[in-house]
Amino acid sequence: MAVTKWWEDAVVYQVYPRSFADSDGDGVGDLPGLRSRLDYLAGLGVDAVWLTPFYPSPLADGGYDVSDYRAVDPRLGTMADFDALVKEAAARRMRVIVDLVPNHCSSAHPLFRAALAAGPGSRERARFIFRDGRGPGGELPPNNWASSFGGPAWTRVADGQWYLHLFDAGQPDWNWHDAEVRALFEDVIRFWLDRGAAGLRVDVAWGLFKDPDLPDDPGGIPRDAPSAYHHRPELRELYRTWRAILDSYPAGEFPGARTAVGEVWYDALGTLRPYLLPGGLPQVFNFELILSRWQAGALRAAIDGVLSLAGGSRAPWVLGNHDVPRPASRYRLDEGFTPDMAARLVALGQRGAEVGARRARAAALLLLALPGSAYIYQGEELGLPEVTDIPDDARRDPQFARSAGRRPGRDGCRVPLPWARGGPGFGFSAAPPWLPQPDGWGDYSVEAQSGDPGSFLSLYREALRLRREHPALGAGGLRWIDQPGRPAALCFAREPGFVFAANLGGAPVPLPPHRQVLLASGPARGALPPDTAAWLSA
Ligand code: GLC
Repeated sequence: MAVTKWWEDAVVYQVYPRSFADSDGDGVGDLPGLRSRLDYLAGLGVDAVWLTPFYPSPLADGGYDVSDYRAVDPRLGTMADFDALVKEAAARRMRVIVDLVPNHCSSAHPLFRAALAAGPGSRERARFIFRDGRGPGGELPPNNWASSFGGPAWTRVADGQWYLHLFDAGQPDWNWHDAEVRALFEDVIRFWLDRGAAGLRVDVAWGLFKDPDLPDDPGGIPRDAPSAYHHRPELRELYRTWRAILDSYPAGEFPGARTAVGEVWYDALGTLRPYLLPGGLPQVFNFELILSRWQAGALRAAIDGVLSLAGGSRAPWVLGNHDVPRPASRYRLDEGFTPDMAARLVALGQRGAEVGARRARAAALLLLALPGSAYIYQGEELGLPEVTDIPDDARRDPQFARSAGRRPGRDGCRVPLPWARGGPGFGFSAAPPWLPQPDGWGDYSVEAQSGDPGSFLSLYREALRLRREHPALGAGGLRWIDQPGRPAALCFAREPGFVFAANLGGAPVPLPPHRQVLLASGPARGALPPDTAAWLSA
């Protein structure tokens, strides 16, 4: 199918900069480290990299607490490093997508400090959501909203008012009904696009606007359902203005049409619909491969849902990211992702690791065979498992502290990458990494996997190579192939001449008719063993 914009069938690689590669030996990954590994990414065969926040930040939430939207955290490099990164990536035909964090800033942001200093009723406070409390002396929060990280969504300041933070107390929510806030972010968007960013990943794109009356949450409101603070109708008009900014950049030459991909979590897929109306954000993630159980019928229904909604070009596919447990561990559980899953994985430790790895390999072939665009989170191509034994005192995710340790949080998928079999930090850093790497991490390293045709990395490299070459892959549609009496089979055809087949059950499933096995996640001779997928030519 003819693609008009690069992002419609792009494979984007998500870099968590603090955990990717460290150049200066302080145990924290940085932009020069990433620059030094661009050949690795080009060799993998991705079209773009998305960088999670690399801006100055007190790190209350891994950098999603931004204290300066137009600068590079000195621990991660300089603006010259960012510019060089864009240039060096472009030399390899790779684009750079930056993370825009508009729902909240850091409590260290100068405008929030000014709001604290200026006091109740001031212009400065109007940029945030400050209110008086309830009850005698205003000692109770203004309403019953809870932070997604646990605990109340309100913190009281010295003069007695409270401010809203849907996440950590170090992340005050902006007031999106304030014209200055809108103007500030329009400047930030232009700032990064002017520097050569090919697009934005929009953090918490289903948040931002809050009902100005701040009504209590009615009991039992489903998570991520439309509410007084999620999926507000005002978002549509805002995103149309952002789209106009994106479209004002010339699309004719590299990096091509600018994109923005919204992070929108939803209760039901239909909640995504308003975001996908014409003229809004070019893309929003669909999290169906994360939310679905490892079961053929569930996955087929999830895929059909996305295809009938908008397709994978506007709603890219993703197996994991820095917020959810690694697929190689998650898929062991036969259940879709829920926020309490990390705790169950910690209890399970590495038991069942082989099943998880087998399924993650099959899932990778599914991801890359589906119509549209796909995102890969760093380390997925190495089959990294969730690290479940991080000591409590080494955990950094605010979810851990805010839930009094009940939720282990997201550190287990953020452990720095292993580049080498051995040596300090397994090639990540000369110093002990900011999150400890487990023993045996070197077995997953790029060095250990590179020469091994059976490795995860070789599977990803080969899949990405075939995806670039095969005319059926990328954007387009699919046709399901039914395997009567084989409920564990997940098979579809893509034209011209491509068939995907997977076995998600416990007994072998015969391969559908084909000419040649192009690639398989495990042995595929006549039949597919359990939890195995294959790409076939028809
Ligand atoms: C998004 C980010 C997550 C962060 C949260 C608050 O969900 O992906 O990492 O904690 O927003 O910014």
